[in-house]
Amino acid sequence: MNYVLGIETSCDETGAAIVKEGRKVISNYLSSQVPIHGTFGGVVPEIASRQHLIHITRMVNRVLKEADCEPDAIAVTQGPGLMGSLLVGVNFAKAFAWSKKIPIIPIHHIEGHIFSSMLLEKSPDFPFLSLVVSGGHTMLIECKVPHHYTIIGNTRDDAVGECFDKVARILGLPYPGGPSIQKSADNGNPRYYSFPQGLANSNSLEFSYSGLKTAVLYKVREVPENERSTQWVSDISASFQWSAIDVLVTKTKMAIKKTGMKRLVVAGGVSANALLRKRLTEELDIDVFLPDFKYCLDNGAMIASAGYYRLMNGYSADFTFTANPSISLNE
Ligand code: KG4
Ligand code: ZN
Repeated sequence: MNYVLGIETSCDETGAAIVKEGRKVISNYLSSQVPIHGTFGGVVPEIASRQHLIHITRMVNRVLKEADCEPDAIAVTQGPGLMGSLLVGVNFAKAFAWSKKIPIIPIHHIEGHIFSSMLLEKSPDFPFLSLVVSGGHTMLIECKVPHHYTIIGNTRDDAVGECFDKVARILGLPYPGGPSIQKSADNGNPRYYSFPQGLANSNSLEFSYSGLKTAVLYKVREVPENERSTQWVSDISASFQWSAIDVLVTKTKMAIKKTGMKRLVVAGGVSANALLRKRLTEELDIDVFLPDFKYCLDNGAMIASAGYYRLMNGYSADFTFTANPSISLNE
């Protein structure tokens, strides 16, 4: 079971990759829909699924040609995500597995993100704590053995990536919000304004991001649109980014203390954030695993890696599973 083809279509990226033995990426391609959704300021589900349909066969043919090998198995994101988008990947993968007579393995999108660290030169051993920060999730997860997850911290409302996206919209910065806020914040003063940090002073590992978003909205409304200078937008971006990231660092430190874990695996799109990466690397005295930039965002390689390890650990599936937009991590 050497080569696994991974397919990811949960949101707005069509990803396909071939990964050898769960760790070595042989071929990896991504078709991003950012320019298409960008004009609407966010992902339009109907457009996303149509785009996946247009691109999936081409993406898979491309990775197969480049890898020049027959995959021994196929792994596909089952959920969570957008129903129409997930269905494209799942049905494509089923047809592929059936025609090639190879095993198919459904993968939870968050498990995929966690396994993006298995693609690092130095990958983590179990057990580890995982900080999952994406457009849909903000979680602290105890991973003691492969494929078993104990969620010890979750968001009560918005996810951190979602908050970046919404604040970018408020500030008139382009979609997706994370990278554009980071870019704007590079020239700003993080101490310009002190935004509230949801649940930062509580003893729990829960997160809350809706208050921070609303606080930015009220602050921005104080200044008429035509008086908002680029410097002012940068200062607000930097101050917001500081608050959004600081609470992640604080709660991660708390979780390390509570669990006694010696390794931290960071996963999901917000793991691309430079301030988060810097602070976790500099401030924690345990091993920190940050995915390569190209595997922070949604991609097929992380799905292939998770699929390989699931197969190796005795998991299998038949063709009765289907896309599940709200599947839980331990289902
Ligand atoms: O994991 P991902 O690609 O998709 C989901 O599973 O949701 O994460 C996308 C999220 C978006 O909200 C995007 O704004 C955020 O990751 N993101 C960032 C950065 N790059 C992407 N957030 C903060 N800083 C970044 N550099
Ligand atoms: Zn994702």
